[in-house]
Amino acid sequence: MNRQLNGDLAKDADAQNLLERIARLKQDRDAVILAHYYVAPEVQAAADYVGDSFYLAKLAVSLPQQTIVLSGVEFMGESAKLLNPSKTVLLPEPAADCPMAHMVKRETVEAARERYGDDLAVACYVNSTVEVKSWSDVCVTSSNAVKIVSELPQHHVLFIPDRNLGRYVAERVPDKHIILNQGCCPRHEEVSLDELRELKAQHPAARVLAHPECTEQVLAEADYIGATSGIIAAAEASDADEFIVVTVRGVLYELQRRCPSKRFYFTHTPPTCRDMDMVTLEKVAACLETGLGEVAVDPAAAPQAKLTLDRMLEYAAR
Ligand code: 13P
Ligand code: SF4
Repeated sequence: MNRQLNGDLAKDADAQNLLERIARLKQDRDAVILAHYYVAPEVQAAADYVGDSFYLAKLAVSLPQQTIVLSGVEFMGESAKLLNPSKTVLLPEPAADCPMAHMVKRETVEAARERYGDDLAVACYVNSTVEVKSWSDVCVTSSNAVKIVSELPQHHVLFIPDRNLGRYVAERVPDKHIILNQGCCPRHEEVSLDELRELKAQHPAARVLAHPECTEQVLAEADYIGATSGIIAAAEASDADEFIVVTVRGVLYELQRRCPSKRFYFTHTPPTCRDMDMVTLEKVAACLETGLGEVAVDPAAAPQAKLTLDRMLEYAAR
């Protein structure tokens, strides 16, 4: 899927040269570019595939190219590498890292295993390091967490690292005992309830679409809660013309592309992910040119971490 460039970018000669360079380098390296909905519009526009975390992980196992350029944060590149050990995975900006991926301690997992034994499953959000995945039994993303947790055979589920997604899942799977960990996405956590309420008062007809990484209070104001792909699909399917979007502003590119006549509002201080923002088109070209930014995963943790991702794909396909 090579995407149409929008307005200004297509007219800009430098940008056009950059895109032509990327197209040549992709061929030379037998590479494909994947991008998350949160990265800059021009990176999304230049990507072959754009999607949410689950889509990118699932897609990575079916691509014929030898090199995958993952325009996103570190855990996305690591997931693609774990699922495709024989392929080269390049991160345009290796320093772009999700802070939440590190927000759980090994002792938390060990204490839960000690307490609940075989009747405990450790479910880790894909926003986690390779090491955290290696301590876990199954991986989930925000688009499949409810389904997967509800189908686990164990009664007790330690959900790591995100307390907000964990609480959202616990509310929807009441027959399980979900144990929460205190990690969170600092960007979604900072969304101001006052700003959201003010925006709702200004646009009373707007539907509120929110990501489950938001706090309980913010989610209580939402008409729809879902992953980035779900938010985009909900806006597209809705009869409404106006939407208040409570997630990282990067989704606006795809929302406007799919729903050009609809209006989208963000809180006065919109969540911006500074790690996703570090990924630029110039860095995409540079990694293709130099081969720098290659993802390497710890060989000691990789087999168990891969198993948690494989299990996610298996559960999601049921
Ligand atoms: P999704 O695209 O799966 O909704 O994930 C959001 C996110 O925070 C990615 O880092
Ligand atoms: Fe991590 Fe939050 Fe950025 Fe997603 S938006 S990559 S959860 S910091």
